Amino acid sequence: MIDRQHRGVLPLKPHTAFRSPGGSLVYEEMVTRGGFSGPFSYFYHLYPVAGHRELSLASRGFAQPEVASHAALPLKRRLYVSHRIVPGGQPLDVRFPILFNSDVVVSLARPSEADDAYFSNGDGDELWFLHEGQARLESPCGWLDVQAGDYVWIPRSLIHRWHLVGEVRAMIIEFSGGMFVPEIFRNPVGQLRMDAPYTHRDFVTPTGPIATFDHVDDGPRDLFVKKRGHFTHYVAEYPLMDVVGWDGFVYPFAFAIEKYQAKAGLVHLPPTIHTTFEAPGALICSFVPRVVDFHPQAIPCPYPHSSVDCDELILYLRGNFTSRRGVGPGAISLHPAGVAHGPHPGAYEASIGTARTDELAVMIDTLRPLIPTHQSIPLEDEGYHSSWRTS
Ligand SMILES: [Fe+2]
Repeated sequence: MIDRQHRGVLPLKPHTAFRSPGGSLVYEEMVTRGGFSGPFSYFYHLYPVAGHRELSLASRGFAQPEVASHAALPLKRRLYVSHRIVPGGQPLDVRFPILFNSDVVVSLARPSEADDAYFSNGDGDELWFLHEGQARLESPCGWLDVQAGDYVWIPRSLIHRWHLVGEVRAMIIEFSGGMFVPEIFRNPVGQLRMDAPYTHRDFVTPTGPIATFDHVDDGPRDLFVKKRGHFTHYVAEYPLMDVVGWDGFVYPFAFAIEKYQAKAGLVHLPPTIHTTFEAPGALICSFVPRVVDFHPQAIPCPYPHSSVDCDELILYLRGNFTSRRGVGPGAISLHPAGVAHGPHPGAYEASIGTARTDELAVMIDTLRPLIPTHQSIPLEDEGYHSSWRTS
């Protein structure tokens, strides 16, 4: 939902008879957000939409968050090590949910095989952050090529499947209320403002569509839809990638984190200046290599803080993260509200006089507490909370 895009063939006017060169009627489908009041896209299918030959409860589908009090209590700072996840499987089947609330589910995944069926997430938008690997997302909008360092947004209910180039490592956030570009980054006509941290050209959109009037790939007819945490298996009556044209604001996109235009101030600015995307109850921030605060006495390292109304999750990707010792690439920290946090001992003092940082990280702040799942237990580094002790 960055700007209006269109691909393939379209009728001059929506909701009018549109025919192939052979004279067959093309079937319009509208995907609408916010009821019928939000962003929308028109899709033009060669076959009637929504016919299913079979329908059953699915025996496949990735794990949903499981609650276990011993995973969530006591209240403490936590660190999860994604390297402990054994790679393998298809994206449709393998995810490890580690933290969740009613707004977001944060999962980790290390799939190594392409999906052999299509998936549609009826529970929310998905934001993938690929921290290793390369992949192609196939959807009715076309092909989207993505690589390590990319955020990939997949709108709710978009039918898609992943084609992987080897193993991929990703953090995936499911947003029950959708995910958006903050309104403050847009001018009154919806264009990204000149002082926004990215431009329209920074977003990569699909090439396609895949089908034409002359050719339709008859790939898998199996479609797995997740709704309220349950997967249903449908076998479609017709090919699922039969869209010959689409037009609108609802389509997947990729954004490379290093295209994020960071800002620096005279003295330390709050983490909100790293805002990238927002969602009901959540903010996604990108920390990228940059010059730091330039007051001669500035302390560039984040000050210790108690952000008492939000939990904070950080995925560390690369570089020397100024405030933390002993956290490597792929680690995820959770700093829950209720416990003060800040730089590791020594980091605050050591940062004085530094001119730039090479850190690369993704942060998610949530207004509702994040609950550690049962599945997070084997990934947790037990010594993390006590690593702030100075004696
Ligand atoms: Fe913080």
